[in-house]
Amino acid sequence: MSALSELAKQISVCTDCPLSRGRTKAVPGEGPEHVDALFIGEAPGYHEDQQGRPFVGPAGKLLDELLGQAGIRRTDVFITNVVKCRPPNNRDPLPAEIEACSKYLDQQIELLAPRVIITLGRYSLAKFVPNETISKAHAKPRAWNGRMVFPMYHPAAALHNEGLRKYLFEDIKRLPEVVEAARKQGPQESGQGPKQLSLL
Ligand code: URA
Repeated sequence: MSALSELAKQISVCTDCPLSRGRTKAVPGEGPEHVDALFIGEAPGYHEDQQGRPFVGPAGKLLDELLGQAGIRRTDVFITNVVKCRPPNNRDPLPAEIEACSKYLDQQIELLAPRVIITLGRYSLAKFVPNETISKAHAKPRAWNGRMVFPMYHPAAALHNEGLRKYLFEDIKRLPEVVEAARKQGPQESGQGPKQLSLL
């Protein structure tokens, strides 16, 4: 079993925070073992908790549309969340829950060795770019530990806000060029070749 699958197994039985008591299924994330692009959302919602897969509800449909718009295949990227279990009634994750889960996200980043990390929403942004609002940070790539971080709004926030939707569609179109720029900056730390973003 690969280290990434081993980690997913650990996540699925984790009891390190109270969210584990309310979950149907933990949602470790999904995608190839090495990727150019890692998308990080906030936390699983109802549908994700039922299925154990990230972004499969309404926000996921919008994410799929966004990826399609940028010519990116969902199967070429890894998708996960800051917190791997659903908070009750989809409330915001608490600092202690984010802290308890951070070891998993850190290991995923290490193993996946993405060139670009796309943060979806403010909780994901806060891990990489503390003290900056998403309205200021979105679509501005920045360096982080030898990788690029590309902040975006959360698709769920745009479901009922036409203005944010417009930003999301504009911003994601820039992603292939950000990945290309990161690729030109040289090899990743991981020895294995990443799953390259291929245009549809
Ligand atoms: N919202 C998230 O942040 N993550 C999901 O997986 C689904 C909705």
